[in-house]
Amino acid sequence: MEKIFIFDTTLRDGEQSPGASMEIRQKVEIAKQLAKLGVDVIEAGFPMTSEGDFEAVRSIAREVNGPIICGLARAVSSDIERAWEALKDAARPRIHTFISTSDIQIKHQLKKTQEEVIQIAKDMVSKAKEYTADVEFSPMDATRTDPEFLYKILETVIEVGATTLNIPDTVGYAIPEEFGRLIANIKKNVRGIDTVVISVHCHNDLGLSTANSLAAVANGCRQVECTINGIGERAGNAALEEVVMAINTRKDLFGITCGIDTTQIYKISRLVSRATGMIVQPNKAIVGVNAFAHESGIHQDGMLKEKTTFEIMTPESIGLKESRLVLGKLSGRHAFKSRLQEMGYELNDEELNRAFVIFKKMADKKREITDSDLEAIVSDELQTIKETYQLEKVQIICGTPGITPVATVSLKNQKGEIIENTASGDGPIDAIGKAIETIINIPLRLVDFSVQAVDGGKDAAGEVNIHLESGKRLFSGRGTDTDIVVASAKAFVHAANKMMG
Ligand code: KIV
Ligand code: ZN
Repeated sequence: MEKIFIFDTTLRDGEQSPGASMEIRQKVEIAKQLAKLGVDVIEAGFPMTSEGDFEAVRSIAREVNGPIICGLARAVSSDIERAWEALKDAARPRIHTFISTSDIQIKHQLKKTQEEVIQIAKDMVSKAKEYTADVEFSPMDATRTDPEFLYKILETVIEVGATTLNIPDTVGYAIPEEFGRLIANIKKNVRGIDTVVISVHCHNDLGLSTANSLAAVANGCRQVECTINGIGERAGNAALEEVVMAINTRKDLFGITCGIDTTQIYKISRLVSRATGMIVQPNKAIVGVNAFAHESGIHQDGMLKEKTTFEIMTPESIGLKESRLVLGKLSGRHAFKSRLQEMGYELNDEELNRAFVIFKKMADKKREITDSDLEAIVSDELQTIKETYQLEKVQIICGTPGITPVATVSLKNQKGEIIENTASGDGPIDAIGKAIETIINIPLRLVDFSVQAVDGGKDAAGEVNIHLESGKRLFSGRGTDTDIVVASAKAFVHAANKMMG
C-alpha cells in the first residue's frame, strides 16, 4: 500500500491557539511523544517569532530522533537564516517557507504584485536549499488564489528545488469536493509535480478540515498537516487523530496506509490538552470522553451481543483501556517509577523525587491512583515555570444566597515570606482570584474556568483549567487536587506565575 506522510504542527500552528502557549520543556516532551506516535514530520515552531520558539526548535532538533524536524520561516532571508540556525543540529532538518498568493492578501497585506511574489518565492526557496535539501513551500491562502497563478508559482519553486508543496486552506474556506478538485488540477497542470510530495494544510473554520484533508488524499496528496486534538489558529487545524483513524478505518476506500501507532493517540491527546490548558470537548471524535460511550439501550444491547454492531473502531486501537487501579498509598518508588516508564515517561532522579512526593500526598487522600492521576502529577512536574509564588493555604466561606463568598489565601514568595489576603467576591472562585490579585499586585481577569474529574469516583482528583487575561495575552493555568477549591487556587497561581514569567 502507498504511504501517506503525517506532518504534525501541534507545536507551531497548534500553539497559535489563543492561550495555548507551552513551555520549552513541555514542547520537547510532546515532540518525543510525537516521535513515539510515529509522525513523519514535526513542525517544531517558527524560530523567527521569539527567543522561546527558537530555543524550542533547537532543543527538539537536538533531542528528538526519528521524524524530520521542521521549522517555519516567512519567505524572508532573515527568517530562513534563523530557522536554519535552530534546525542545523537535527538529523533530518526541513525548512518550511511560505508567502501569500491570493490576490486579497497580496494586495492588502504584502502590497506587492504577482510577479514580485513569484520572484521572492523563487529566491527564498533557493536560499533555503543552500542549507538543506529538504525544503517545503506553502502558497498561503491557496484556496482563494487564482489557479493559474498558483500553478505558475508551484512550477517555479519546483524548478529551484522545493521538495514538498503544501496547499494550505488558510482561512478554512474550501468545500471537500472543490478542494479535492484543486489537488487533482494541481497534479494535472503543474510541470514537475510528480517529482515532489503534495501536502495539504486545512483549517477548520467551517468544520471541514478533516473532510477537506481526506478529499485531498483521495485526489493524490501524500502529506497531511494536522494537529493533536485539532488545536490551531482560530477554529483550529485538521485533527491528527481524525485523519489517521479515518484513513485506517476506511483502508478499503483510501487504499493507503500511514506509519502511526494509533495506540499512542489517547495518551498524546491528554498530554497536549494538559500542556495547553485546552480541554477536549466530550463529544470530540476519537479522543472525547464520550467517543466510546454507549448510552442508548438499543446500542448497549447491540454492544453486549457483538461490539461491531455499534463500534467502527475499538477504544484499544487508540490506547484507551478501562481505568484501573494501578497504585495506592502503600506503593513504593520502584512501582511508581516503573508504571511511569510503562506509560512512556522518563523522569530524571530529581523530577522523580518531586513527583513521588506529590503522588504520596495524593495517595493519602485518594484510595486509588489511576493512570490519569499519574499523568496529572507528571505533567505538573514537567512544568518549568518560574514559581514566583507558591500556594500555601486557601480557605473559603460560601453558601446559600445571602452569604457573601469570602476567600483567604496565603502565598509564599521567593524570599520565603508568607503573604496573606482576604477578599470577597461574586462567588468563591471570584473571591480566590481577588485575594490573589491583591497579593501579587497584577490585575487578573478570569476569562474561562472549567473543572473536570481526572477520573470517575467520589474520591476523584479535580483538574481545574483557567485562562487569565493580561493586556492582549491569555495565560492558561491548571491545578489538580482532590479538593476543587485548592485546585482552583493552584490554577490561579500557575497562570499568575506564567504571567509574571
Ligand atoms: O494556514 C496556513 O496557511 C499556514 C501556513 C504557514 C502553512 O499555517
Ligand atoms: Zn495554518
